Amino acid sequence: MKTIFSGIQPSGTITLGNYIGALKQFVELQDEFNCYFCIVDEHAITVPQEPQVLRKNIRSLAALYLAVGLDPNKATLFIQSEVPAHAQAAWIMQCITYIGELERMTQFKDKSAGKEAVSAALLTYPPLMVADILLYGADLVPVGEDQKQHLELTRDLAQRFNKKYAEIFTIPEPRIPKVGARIMSLQDPTKKMSKSDPNQKGFISMLDEPKQIEKKIKSAVTDSDGVVKYDVENKPGVSNLMSIYSILSGKSIEELETMYEGKGYGAFKGDLAQVVIDALAPIQKRYTELMESQELDDILDKGAEKANEVASKMLKKMENAMGLGRKKRK
Ligand code: TYM
Repeated sequence: MKTIFSGIQPSGTITLGNYIGALKQFVELQDEFNCYFCIVDEHAITVPQEPQVLRKNIRSLAALYLAVGLDPNKATLFIQSEVPAHAQAAWIMQCITYIGELERMTQFKDKSAGKEAVSAALLTYPPLMVADILLYGADLVPVGEDQKQHLELTRDLAQRFNKKYAEIFTIPEPRIPKVGARIMSLQDPTKKMSKSDPNQKGFISMLDEPKQIEKKIKSAVTDSDGVVKYDVENKPGVSNLMSIYSILSGKSIEELETMYEGKGYGAFKGDLAQVVIDALAPIQKRYTELMESQELDDILDKGAEKANEVASKMLKKMENAMGLGRKKRK
């Protein structure tokens, strides 16, 4: 059975983009693969976080992973900082990474742009992500389009380590969905939908109430020609809404074009709002139940135990390959 690893940052709102690009794929993969899914809290602290809020967000994200349908009997769900091997392996990976490689990362450029004080960790964030993936010998990493560059670095560093020290790492492949890998902002369809968008109307949170969802979709930016047609170049707003509709309803883009022929954006947006509300309602219900239960902590404890077992073995292999310590670690 092939192994899968992926992670999401517990940095506040989890958006419809995170759901479509990542979470939804995770559920589809758990039957076929040996899956590890992580709440990457050490990644979240690369930018300032309020401690109490971070704690709350970690639990909340764990509940969401389960609420979308992740089965803890099939997949391992855990919190990154509860598995110390991640930070240890990240240090080792940093030692074989060049600064130039990190400065080229678009996520670093975006997140540091215009800021006076930027943490060193914002720059060295990718080797931590590399460590996350390589510790579990992942074959596949399901992510949205924005993580592609980090996956390329992961492959480069795995190959570099294998060549220089010992052949211990599997070279992972990204698994990026064909449709929905880049859900765009509802207010500016040339930018990706992001939880850090200061304009709240630009994203839909997985926990938004039906009224908020309806409002946000109704005020989504489209164009003036009133035709429901998929054309990313000339109609980015409508095309983005069509992608969301198609993925959540299972209807093809062509079906949608036929369905809304001769109808305006009003009817289309009204129906889309209902599709989104219906997709999120059962998830939100399960989420509320989980947040109140002890079940969540038990699952995370078991997940950390399993992840620690696997990750510490690989960490020892890394340390041994590099000659750390007085003698070979067993
Ligand atoms: P993060 O937390 O920003 O996002 C989590 C996942 O959601 C996807 N995503 C999107 N997909 C489609 N459209 C969007 N608008 C959209 N926004 C986000 C992301 O591509 C991602 O798959 N560095 C990672 C977290 C991470 C990780 C890992 C991922 C840490 N270690 C190891 C995979 C493997 C990040 O910041 O994702």
